[in-house]
Amino acid sequence: MAIKFSVPRGTYDILPDISYKWEYVTKVFRDVAREFNYKEIVTPIFENSNIFERSVGATSDIVEKEMYKFEDKKGRSFALRPEGTAPVVRSFIENGLNLKPNSSKLYYLGPMFRYDRPQKGRYRQFYQYGIENIGSTNVYNDAEAIAFAYSFLTRLGLQNFELQINSIGCKKCTQDYDNALKEYFTPNIDSLCSDCRNRLIKNPKRVLDCKVKTCKIIASNAPSMIDYLDEDCQRDFEKVKEYLNVMNIPFIVNAKIVRGLDYYSQTAFEFIDTNLGAQNTLIGGGRYNTLAEQLGGKNLPGIGFAGGFERLLLSMEQENSSFGLPQIPKVYLVTLGEEAVSKGIELLSKLRKNGISTEYDPDKISMNAQMKMANKTEAGFALILGKNELENNIIILKNLATGEQKNVNLTKIIELMKDI
Ligand code: HAM
Repeated sequence: MAIKFSVPRGTYDILPDISYKWEYVTKVFRDVAREFNYKEIVTPIFENSNIFERSVGATSDIVEKEMYKFEDKKGRSFALRPEGTAPVVRSFIENGLNLKPNSSKLYYLGPMFRYDRPQKGRYRQFYQYGIENIGSTNVYNDAEAIAFAYSFLTRLGLQNFELQINSIGCKKCTQDYDNALKEYFTPNIDSLCSDCRNRLIKNPKRVLDCKVKTCKIIASNAPSMIDYLDEDCQRDFEKVKEYLNVMNIPFIVNAKIVRGLDYYSQTAFEFIDTNLGAQNTLIGGGRYNTLAEQLGGKNLPGIGFAGGFERLLLSMEQENSSFGLPQIPKVYLVTLGEEAVSKGIELLSKLRKNGISTEYDPDKISMNAQMKMANKTEAGFALILGKNELENNIIILKNLATGEQKNVNLTKIIELMKDI
């Protein structure tokens, strides 16, 4: 029996009819990164699993249920990275980037892995774009990170999204708030889902993030974090809002944003697509002032965000955004007869060396078959070379949109093609 292989559940192939869309959004992301002076960092796809346990948090869903954890041949525990912040901070500390100029603002692109129930907009291997700005507590950086995300989404032509911000306070405010939440939820503990009963003991804020309907209803009147912010956190939050206003970035305050990862403190934000279904968070981010210490580094506060490419593409498709043009060759080379093949290949090589994208299919022999292919590839021009043309040192240049054609001297064709 023939074996039939398929991609693992929750993963997918990026095929040519989509890959040009990826290329487009990646390019726009890199353009925005350059404008904000963020530089690329690439870290390994797997890391010591401790890195995530210590930072993302042992009680988070990601570490508790979703991590692809494995032992290597020497029994060392690794994990496929479920997110990018902890690895970037690990690298920042390891490479002493705080001591190197122009190295504090970093961006990354790449696959992340979470073992979750796959659905529209949620995958087990998904691709994130993200930034981290490490080393300063100045909340201008919070506003700048948000502005970066906002610029990116608007540059892609998206409109149906909403920026929601919150402050989840520092450690001190969090303790008071956690106590208030425990007091609020405990009388209803039997109505909470089993996850939330656990959360109430280990990390009560996460109950606010639960998607289960009864938990949501109970949480709707819970005390608000904003009322528990101390003076410093309140002042910082006001400043973030002020800077966003100055930059003309619309936002709403949503006191229920807590983020699902434990390393956050103070500013937390999400960009929500108001039209997507359940998986509607395009981008999530926030400040993490103690993460570096949890990874054995010194005091290196940071702020950043990440978003998933999959949801971004879904949003763009829903809003009929442009993905730029799919890749099409400028020239399709047609050779007729054995003699023309060698000269044709020589020309093909010259065209490509001169930056002119050119397609050629050596398996198609007849004029008819080659012209059909030329039209299928949507090339702008066909260059047709046969025995007669060779003898006269010319080539036929055909505009495939208008059907117009003319003879061009073979020695002049490269220069001409560069100009049109
Ligand atoms: P996160 O909220 O876990 O944050 O993920 C950020 C974004 O990644 C989500 O808003 C969503 O667009 C996308 N995403 C997450 N899980 C999946 C999935 N299973 N399938 C498809 N897309 C997904 C972080 O990862 C933080 N590291 C963000 C950050 C950077 N905070 C500070 N710096």
